[in-house]
Amino acid sequence: MPKVAVDGDIVAHNELVTDVWRMEVEARPIAREGEPGQFVQLQIPQGGFTLRRPVGIAEIDRQKGTVAFIYRVVGKGTKALSKLPVGSQINVLGPLGHGFSLQAKHPLLVGGGMGLSPLLCYAEHSQGKASVLMGGRCERELFWQKIYAPNVQDVFCTTDDGSCGTKGFTTTLLPELLRQGDYDLVIACGPEIMMQGIARIAHEHGVPCQVSLEKRMGCGLGACLSCSIDTTRGERKKVCKDGPVFWAEEVFDLK
Ligand code: FES
Repeated sequence: MPKVAVDGDIVAHNELVTDVWRMEVEARPIAREGEPGQFVQLQIPQGGFTLRRPVGIAEIDRQKGTVAFIYRVVGKGTKALSKLPVGSQINVLGPLGHGFSLQAKHPLLVGGGMGLSPLLCYAEHSQGKASVLMGGRCERELFWQKIYAPNVQDVFCTTDDGSCGTKGFTTTLLPELLRQGDYDLVIACGPEIMMQGIARIAHEHGVPCQVSLEKRMGCGLGACLSCSIDTTRGERKKVCKDGPVFWAEEVFDLK
């Protein structure tokens, strides 16, 4: 799949909730080729940031030629990113990596924290075929409900404090959903410990599962090896090039 570096105009940039931002950039070739689960590398234009920042694609509008990213401000780089005004430009390299399987009839998306960002792209792409199970500490963290609602069949929620949906984790509710539903694929994105638990439960219920791994990345192009992992079959793979999406049994011991 071709990848390109584009100087894209920022056409929208706003804070969704405290420290979580949505940036929409006009980058026509990336919008044309991008698939759910892929990512881009952003070059922050000011402040001497030499390394690009990897960020998952949250939305693709092929007609408008735009891609959108939803990111949390966690350090100097993302702080600088959040200061970029609408109308300024940012260099976007992508689309990178391999995305999710798009063959499922009724996929269940399971996300925690910012893992819900790349899953949103899948939900929009699958046009009402998917359902989503989202987990957070409290209701405030599940601001995603409104964003997902127009794009999915069902929104299921879990919170640590019980302020929204089922009290507990996504792994608390998943067994019941898999017993009752007709899901033919589980797609998980979020903290690794959550994805391991989700993958095990999906395996126990005989439902295939894909996970999107997050690793520190240097080049994002398969050249620097900073994102290497060992698969369960003892192979070395690069998250940026061979992933970030993997079948769960490739990267987690499910027995
Ligand atoms: Fe350089 Fe993956 S980030 S090889």
